[in-house]
Amino acid sequence: MIANDDTNVFYRNPFSSYPTVSRGEGIYLFDEKGKRYIDACGGAVVSALGHSVPEVVEAMKAQLDSVEFAHTSQFTNPSQEELAKLITDRSPGGLNHAYFVSGGSEAVESAMKLARAYWVQMGRPDKWMVIGREQSYHGNTLGALAAGGNRWRRAIYEPMLFKAPRVVPCSCYRCPFDKDPAHCSIECADDLERAILEAGPEKVAAFIAEPIVGATAGALVPHENYFHRIREICDKYDVLFIADEVMTGLGRCGSWFAIRQFGVVPDMLCLAKGLAAGYVPIGATLVHDRIVDTFHNRRHIFQHGHTYMGHPLATAAGAAVIRFMDKHKLVERSRVLGEELLTRLKKALHDHPHVGDIRGRGLFVGIEFVADRASKAPFEPELAFHRVLRDLAFRNGLIIYPMGGTIDGRRGDHTLIAPPFVITRAQIGRLVELLVRSIDAAVESVRPKAAP
Ligand SMILES: Cc1ncc(COP(=O)(O)O)c(C=O)c1O
Repeated sequence: MIANDDTNVFYRNPFSSYPTVSRGEGIYLFDEKGKRYIDACGGAVVSALGHSVPEVVEAMKAQLDSVEFAHTSQFTNPSQEELAKLITDRSPGGLNHAYFVSGGSEAVESAMKLARAYWVQMGRPDKWMVIGREQSYHGNTLGALAAGGNRWRRAIYEPMLFKAPRVVPCSCYRCPFDKDPAHCSIECADDLERAILEAGPEKVAAFIAEPIVGATAGALVPHENYFHRIREICDKYDVLFIADEVMTGLGRCGSWFAIRQFGVVPDMLCLAKGLAAGYVPIGATLVHDRIVDTFHNRRHIFQHGHTYMGHPLATAAGAAVIRFMDKHKLVERSRVLGEELLTRLKKALHDHPHVGDIRGRGLFVGIEFVADRASKAPFEPELAFHRVLRDLAFRNGLIIYPMGGTIDGRRGDHTLIAPPFVITRAQIGRLVELLVRSIDAAVESVRPKAAP
């Protein structure tokens, strides 16, 4: 039975009943009945500044007062020029050009097509393949889905997806090679070399990876040398490296770009979510000088484009978001309060029998749940532990971002905790308290079914 048949909306899940949101303020959202929720995940790791920041709203109004839209094949606009400068001033060396789109999937599609177009410019037209990783997510459009490695999301669309070889995830908690991270040789990174050689280096255009895996693996932080090795392998075989920072970018992990923490520079970097922090949809692909120069030197254009790219309202919001982050030192705040959140979670949950791992960087934290801590055995997928937890937390006034299939697309449960950067220490305390209460209630709720 659908939850509401008095609507013309085609809901994400018609069997769920959604309260109506009425307003937002800081880390809180309120429904029309006045119930208050702590938005502890910024929706889907979007709301970096919190809700209803007047400076961002004012900047958007000012943009609307001058011009609402002008197509980028006819005009540039001051907002997109300003936002491009603000982002590239903060980006890892050489990523000096921003291609604006309307969301994360479009940013990923643009990067993959640009990789292909680049190799065609370079006289290597056989290079078209994009290698991704198991348990990664790059978006739901067909190209982005093809590059992603989440089996559940891909399953029914499989016949429509282009062939994208995949490598193992970089999970130290569940090492695919059964190694101890203190003594491993980063075999998970070397798996990229295997995949390139199997596909044929002459065919591989790019490798795409999230610096810290978000939605499908729960803030999975790689071995500290992982991306060094990845960069070496990409360079060895003329494969472009695309960092998908749609979730991790713009301060979320305690630095403007998460990949910076691993000391390498990608050839392209995808952004969205935090870029306009939810005030309006936007995405961007940052592109390295050497790629852009290849096009410019040959007087070629990148054969791509969308109607709403560089939209003045979206870029005005994005610029206001970055100015606000600068003014209030929010990137540093994400780093410091992220450490506080991680420490408090570890203190509260360190001996919890169903918490296997707590990980993350900045205000981007993941908790992986297990049925049995010693063996790391997950809950039975049929129990949908993550969904039970999500619903109980929501009832408790806490919005988190849990997902199932953490291990292989089917087994495993985790949640992401990613509150707005303006969260206070006291609010973190309350968040942790509500979360622990919700986890205990979720365990209690699945226990009778879990027991033999
Ligand atoms: C790493 C990553 N890439 C791409 C996307 C797709 O972004 P969008 O939903 O804006 O298309 C997401 C969304 O969660 C993401 O987490």
